[in-house]
Amino acid sequence: MQERPKRNAISLGVNNKMKAAARGLSCVVVALVLLSAISCARQDATPAQQNPNNWWKNAVIYEIYPRSFQDSNADGIGDLNGITSRLDYLQGLGIDAIWLTPIYPSPQVDFGYDISDYDNIDPQYGTLADFDRLVAEAKKRNIGVIMDLVLNHTSDKHPWFKESASSRTNSKADWYMWRDPKMVDGHREPPNNWLSVFGHSAWQWDPVRQQYYYHRFYIQQPDLNWSNPEVRKAMYDVERFWIQHGAAGFRLDAITALFEDPSDTDEPYVLGPDGKPKINVYGDKEVDSSKTDNLPEVHDVLRELRQVADQTQGHKVVLIGETYLRSVDDLRKMYGPHDDELDLPMDMQVGFPPYGVTLASVDWFRQRINEAETGIGGEMPLFVFDNHDNPRWDRWVTSDHKDDVGRVIATVLFASRDTAMMYYGDEIGMATTPPTRKEDVKDPIGITGWPKQKGRDGERTPMQWNDGADAGFSPAGVKTWLPIPPSYSTINVTSEQNEQDSMLHWYQQIIALKKQDPALHDGAETMLNTGDGHVLSWLRKSDNGEAVVVACNFSDQPQTVSFDLSGQGIHGTNVKTLMKTPGATDPASLGSIQLGAFGVYIGQVQ
Ligand code: GLC
Repeated sequence: MQERPKRNAISLGVNNKMKAAARGLSCVVVALVLLSAISCARQDATPAQQNPNNWWKNAVIYEIYPRSFQDSNADGIGDLNGITSRLDYLQGLGIDAIWLTPIYPSPQVDFGYDISDYDNIDPQYGTLADFDRLVAEAKKRNIGVIMDLVLNHTSDKHPWFKESASSRTNSKADWYMWRDPKMVDGHREPPNNWLSVFGHSAWQWDPVRQQYYYHRFYIQQPDLNWSNPEVRKAMYDVERFWIQHGAAGFRLDAITALFEDPSDTDEPYVLGPDGKPKINVYGDKEVDSSKTDNLPEVHDVLRELRQVADQTQGHKVVLIGETYLRSVDDLRKMYGPHDDELDLPMDMQVGFPPYGVTLASVDWFRQRINEAETGIGGEMPLFVFDNHDNPRWDRWVTSDHKDDVGRVIATVLFASRDTAMMYYGDEIGMATTPPTRKEDVKDPIGITGWPKQKGRDGERTPMQWNDGADAGFSPAGVKTWLPIPPSYSTINVTSEQNEQDSMLHWYQQIIALKKQDPALHDGAETMLNTGDGHVLSWLRKSDNGEAVVVACNFSDQPQTVSFDLSGQGIHGTNVKTLMKTPGATDPASLGSIQLGAFGVYIGQVQ
């Protein structure tokens, strides 16, 4: 594995000190050029900024896991004031919006995805006033704040559930999914074989109601009954509440899971190659989710959510869906037949492919990215490669070209025609750091599934701001809620701001290009050299005729590519480099572009 050089100021010799000073100066120059480019871009607003209804198109959305971004009150947990204090950094990165995973009051079993009050802020994270200040400060910097809306389930400590569970006759008796047991040989059993995503039966017995309730996720996250109009009304009120508090949009959690098949019958088992049911990491026989996921009724709710969002005046409220769908047809349906459902269903096919797909599968990536361009009726794709539920980008790394792989992924994410969703820490190359002992695990699935499933702590570690104690996340000496990964001494914002070839500079530059370069901003996309088994290449072409080629070497061997664009109606054969990795050449023509292992080249056709 290629390690970054460890920087040790004390042991630097005089020559090295001078070199370091020169490097520091050149970095300042690079940073100034970038900053002035970025501030120019903000004055000459991009097309998206000029049209407030389109701000989310071709935008960059930055996911923040609030517990882990910045602790402002020395309790080892990140909070809203911490995020506000980092807005200048985020503006410098060039992002358009932040998505906050849930910050509502919660028992925190699923770290906020178990909500006990939808109209407030968990005191761990701050107050409603802190939220309002975050929104106002973000707005000054052209950054929208996107809330996470968890509609499928509440916490079992939510007053709605407490009431619902108290009897079979209370006013909320039908707000959740209650079912009678199945009696087998005089024994009580769950109504069917449906499984929780987090392991074992999705049905939990309630001794008071003498019934089971359904929970797709943890036992402490009972599913709401979306067939009940009162549930819908209550949740649309929540949507309105946060729009009134300035939310720029919502990421709709687990949105495909809202409805279950009313027949309550068993789901078919997923069979392995031996014809027997596959066993998942929790030891359960896998079922196919056909009766519990992506039922057609979801679309009615999406339209209703859209109507509520569209009633707000002044700014477009964007609706993003957590949509782990495996076909482009299902993805297309999520936009609605009349563009009246989701604005941005997440395309999880490109960034989270099925088991077995690796970076060696160039054809697979080409096909999926091309489908997003041609198979969703011209809608805006939303690509995601990283989030708080999956190992970080380093899951792709199989050779010792770690950072190079990071640059390839960032290039696919930002140079494609898409809205790009990134995860905090990606921009400095933060890697997955899973717990090494079961007793250290915080995420309950890591306890249930240990050691096969270590949980999601590894991708939720505190942001690495600097090389001081606690990495600048908490004041030095505070015990942080998850440990700071040892890599913080070299992988951190401050160090990378001073390193010319850092991942952070790659991100800043490519995001700036996505915003400013007409072809890379919203130009049409065409795959090039489609027979190439190692290099993924594509063309971006703007309405005004600007053409940009992008080439990403997905292999650990140097590659050479050439492009003949005459079939695309482009006759120029010269090229001007916009960005490239150190191992790539700076070619004059499209005839021969050399790429190092996992190298990237982006050039404007002349
Ligand atoms: C979504 C969230 C995940 C959470 C689950 C249950 O998948 O991303 O973190 O555990 O929903 O709310």
